[in-house]
Amino acid sequence: MRVLVTGVTGYIGSHAAVELLDVGHDVVGVDDFSASSPSVRAAIERAAGRPIELHELDLRNRAAVNCLFDKGNFDAVIHFAGRKFVGESMDRPVRYYSRNVGASINLAAAAQRHRVEKIVFSSSCTVYGNPAQLPVNEATPVAPVSPYGRTKVAVEDLFSDLCATDPNMSVLSLRYFNPIGAHPSGLLGEVPQGTPNNLLPYVMQVAAGQRSTLSVFGGDYDTADGTCIRDYVHVVDIAKAHVRALDYVDHVRGFDAMNLGTGRGSSVLEIITACRIATRRDIPYQIVDRRAGDAAVIFADPTRANIDLGWRAEANLTQMCFDHWRFERAHLAPEAQAS
Ligand code: UD1
Repeated sequence: MRVLVTGVTGYIGSHAAVELLDVGHDVVGVDDFSASSPSVRAAIERAAGRPIELHELDLRNRAAVNCLFDKGNFDAVIHFAGRKFVGESMDRPVRYYSRNVGASINLAAAAQRHRVEKIVFSSSCTVYGNPAQLPVNEATPVAPVSPYGRTKVAVEDLFSDLCATDPNMSVLSLRYFNPIGAHPSGLLGEVPQGTPNNLLPYVMQVAAGQRSTLSVFGGDYDTADGTCIRDYVHVVDIAKAHVRALDYVDHVRGFDAMNLGTGRGSSVLEIITACRIATRRDIPYQIVDRRAGDAAVIFADPTRANIDLGWRAEANLTQMCFDHWRFERAHLAPEAQAS
């Protein structure tokens, strides 16, 4: 297939592009480079050994999106582009609705108009908010607790309504749990802008000596060690699910949503231990107050993806931390690598 990949130079988009190229799809990538660099293109091409087409494009520009589709001749779209930080979305909700929902409206309209009927959407477990029951399956009520989460639900609703009225459309929304790790080649990984918001990038910067201490947000949760539990899943496993998802939307019409996780939860302290093993470095931490809005425990029931996509997360926690570290290390200054 000739696949349009939005947000192709981002963390998950870049890994997915490599997997798509590996199985023989052609990738036409777009990105506005607001949270990534055009240099990621070379890393994708090196990792996959094949070229991609890349355009700088802001999906909020409706005319530009239509122009892209006029010339594109796409068979399918995988839509990654968007902002992803809960805290930032609380401070700047309009930005989130514009970049996540507004952009998706332009994309959906152009796809429908050009009869590009197969779409895979990058969603998040954040749509479930603080779920009452665990593990979280797709029947768990959607109840987001942040503007970011509500934008993901809004886009899922948009695609669901589109499919309900246009029987040829097929959209699969993939709800990622906590993607971590990096491509085993060391060429691709997560490049946070400024101070990292997420756990793994922060832990790795502490291991690298770029930050002195990790703040663990809350040590008094009702969990075995008192810290929050999440379902961490290797970004390459997530990327591979998109290859399966393309097959799925090729054969099944309508809207559907599936969880992508391992089905196992790990605490923040377990992550620190795994990262100490993977990095062979000390990771000093202190337990501080809880972070507002954090659920104590959330992990996936990935049965639907296991059965209907034939997909299963394979990497264990040590592998994920090791791969994350390999990328981080490759991008450190030489003196930090040696220490
Ligand atoms: C959130 C979103 C998820 C989104 C992800 C990426 C929810 C439920 N999940 O995940 O959809 O894809 O962000 O933006 O909204 N922690 C620390 N110290 C730190 C950083 C994090 O202790 O410096 C802890 C957090 O309290 C949490 C865990 O580490 O328990 C993971 O945090 P984080 O990486 O930010 O991901 P989530 O908040 O789970």
